[in-house]
Amino acid sequence: MKLLVTGGAGFIGSNFILHVLETVSGARVINLDALTYAGNLENLAAVENDSRHQFVKMDIRDREAVARLCVAEKPDAVVNFAAESHVDRSIDGPEVFAQTNVLGTLSLLEATRKAGTGVFLQVSTDEVYGTLGAGGSFSETSPIQPNSPYAASKAGADQFVRAYHHTHGMDTRITRCSNNYGPYQFPEKLIPLMITNAMEGRGLPVYGDGLHVRDWIYVTDHCRAILAVLEKGAAGEVYNIGGVHELPNIEVVRTIVRAAGADESLIEFVKDRPGHDRRYAIDSSKARRELGWEPRVGFSEGIGRTLAWYQANRRWWERIKSSEYRDYYEKMYGNRL
Ligand code: NAD
Ligand code: TYD
Repeated sequence: MKLLVTGGAGFIGSNFILHVLETVSGARVINLDALTYAGNLENLAAVENDSRHQFVKMDIRDREAVARLCVAEKPDAVVNFAAESHVDRSIDGPEVFAQTNVLGTLSLLEATRKAGTGVFLQVSTDEVYGTLGAGGSFSETSPIQPNSPYAASKAGADQFVRAYHHTHGMDTRITRCSNNYGPYQFPEKLIPLMITNAMEGRGLPVYGDGLHVRDWIYVTDHCRAILAVLEKGAAGEVYNIGGVHELPNIEVVRTIVRAAGADESLIEFVKDRPGHDRRYAIDSSKARRELGWEPRVGFSEGIGRTLAWYQANRRWWERIKSSEYRDYYEKMYGNRL
């Protein structure tokens, strides 16, 4: 199997590449990434000298270059992780979300269609379905009702992917996954932010009342689901992927505080995110039934592994937190972080 992985220097993409090279015999990966603030080749240090992994610095919006690469390399499938991925940033500056997530995906669809590449797997999110009240969960046929500029841009991309299946007969597949956590996650997202702030004795900013609910999945379980969709999924289909670990944010933060041996007084309730989705919950029975996939890592085990990774890899996140990340957050939240 020869894969073109876009966004492979980011959090989930790098975990996916490491997982594929570890578990799929005969696999080869071309990793196409523009190396934005979120892309970090240190994530792939373990395969730096592995001939099965080839890194190409390229923007998915560069249609001609991507098409040339696909014609030359003839990958069996494209797995599109490349995106702007942070909701708070999308509220602050939505344009790049439309450019990368919508136009970038369209450009990639055109390039791979012209090159005759096989499967196009779009890595999407449960956030395209909008928000839920206290009950129920999102199925693949739930209406697309994005609420944040990030979710709107991912929904726009999904609709183009769907249209390319119907119009051009491309073998496109979409995964919509819940909130991931694990090693190499950029410390602007809830779990790595709380872990690293707790380790530094800094404040732990919880938005609003802290009762917003997310369904957490350990990143390797998401990677296994993507592989299952590549191997057993069907053209034109959507697969919801969830961890079955629904938790209010304040519970996630308290779990981290306890595991890290930090002080609960570090928790600070701060101004809520505008338009903050109250609850996400995902029904992944289709993936279980049709792909034979299910998550394997429970939340307490996953948090334990993740905390241990951030403890053992201080240099990785300290470098990030001391640079552009800090400038951005100081602008948004003052010097709390
Ligand atoms: P991330 O922000 O950690 O990584 C994104 C990667 O894409 C980076 O390496 C970045 O350099 C690259 N990139 C950005 N713009 C690019 C461009 N124009 N051309 C080429 N590369 C570009 O994101 P992540 O958390 O790893 O998420 C990966 C994908 O999974 C995204 O599509 C996201 O929407 C989706 N997703 C994420 C989650 C989650 O909880 N993190 C959940 C469900 C779905
Ligand atoms: P995040 O990791 O940004 O993922 P998403 O918004 O895509 O779900 O946030 C997860 C939840 O945690 C979300 O409800 C917002 C909340 N949150 C905080 O309370 N404080 C924070 O500092 C961050 C980054 C997020």
